[in-house]
Amino acid sequence: MEWRVPLADIDFGLEEEQAVQEVIHSRWLSMGEVTQKFEQEFAAFVGAKHTLAVTNATAALHLACVASGLGPGDEVIVPSLTFVATANTVRYTGAAAVFADVESTDWLNISPASIEANITDKTRAILVVHYAGYPCDMLAIMKIASRHNLIVLEDSAHAIGSELNGRKLGTWGSIGCYSFFSNKNMTTGEGGMLATDDDALAERLRILRSHGMTSLSWDRHQGHAWSYDVVDLGYNYRIDEIRSALGRAQFKKLPANNERRAELTRLYRDLLNELVPQVTMPFEEERGTSCHHILPVLLPPGTDRVHFMEGMKAHGIQTSIHYPPVHQFRIYQEAWRQRGQPLPVTEEVAAREVTLPLYPTMQDEQVKWVVKAVQESLAV
Ligand SMILES: Cc1ncc(COP(=O)(O)O)c(C=O)c1O
Repeated sequence: MEWRVPLADIDFGLEEEQAVQEVIHSRWLSMGEVTQKFEQEFAAFVGAKHTLAVTNATAALHLACVASGLGPGDEVIVPSLTFVATANTVRYTGAAAVFADVESTDWLNISPASIEANITDKTRAILVVHYAGYPCDMLAIMKIASRHNLIVLEDSAHAIGSELNGRKLGTWGSIGCYSFFSNKNMTTGEGGMLATDDDALAERLRILRSHGMTSLSWDRHQGHAWSYDVVDLGYNYRIDEIRSALGRAQFKKLPANNERRAELTRLYRDLLNELVPQVTMPFEEERGTSCHHILPVLLPPGTDRVHFMEGMKAHGIQTSIHYPPVHQFRIYQEAWRQRGQPLPVTEEVAAREVTLPLYPTMQDEQVKWVVKAVQESLAV
């Protein structure tokens, strides 16, 4: 379908084409020098000692869970209002994902009070998600973690460039995981990045990323190594040079593109307040700096959401839902019923939320069309 306003769009041009061509001409496609440069640039940007590029954020989250030593018998507290990969990657290790509620209908991030309420003697870690790029209450969460001796991991898939108290999201906990999926603030199609300040964790992650091997094909190609040992049960979660080259080109555009997302978000807030005040835009409170990954709104209670989204579609405007809550998926339902606590705010938000289009190449005029369509779709 040709959307008049799609939900998201990429900002690709000659820079990306040239970057890919250079890699093809270099005749080295698998992980090598371009990836190293991409990692160094990303490390400097987020202010982390180590970064490792991987095939996607799901792989990054899985490696973060494995390197943190999670396994059967452990519990990890996660929000239910997230993409399913957050919880799945905990489950891959044999640990259980325990769902915490979100703060409020204004701040859709994991609630510190709900985290505390879910802690048991099996809890080993808290895996936070910075929903839409807005910061979790990291000061409170870090305090809880230190009081209970818990690991903090960050799903920063949405939060490339967001910060809190001058510190980038993804560098508060022991490991941060970023996504470069097609709709993200910078994209390589599929791709991800791990960030950590911990030398030992970085070394373990590096080895786990590539089959548990002590040397890479790139090292051997360079003549730095002839052979290798296998010292851990690793995976092939490597990125490749074409995607790293795309990442470097996209990275240059990130500051301006995040700024544009912020402007568009402000315009949405003004227009929605003026024209459809019954539709609320979360994250009104001042907390840190978001990279404005997506534009979630809450419909008035009782609105027929399917009917509303059909109305938007009739106007040529693509919308989405972030997210169907994970505890309600069939695969998680039973475990949640047995062990979980009620998640009233998550369930309310999940029932009322609709995501409106947001992408850096979007025009002001298009925001006006979307808001007008929201007004009309609610009225019928
Ligand atoms: C919150 C969250 N976590 C994890 C992921 C997984 O990222 P990827 O698609 O790069 O594996 C996504 C992707 O959309 C996400 O939104």
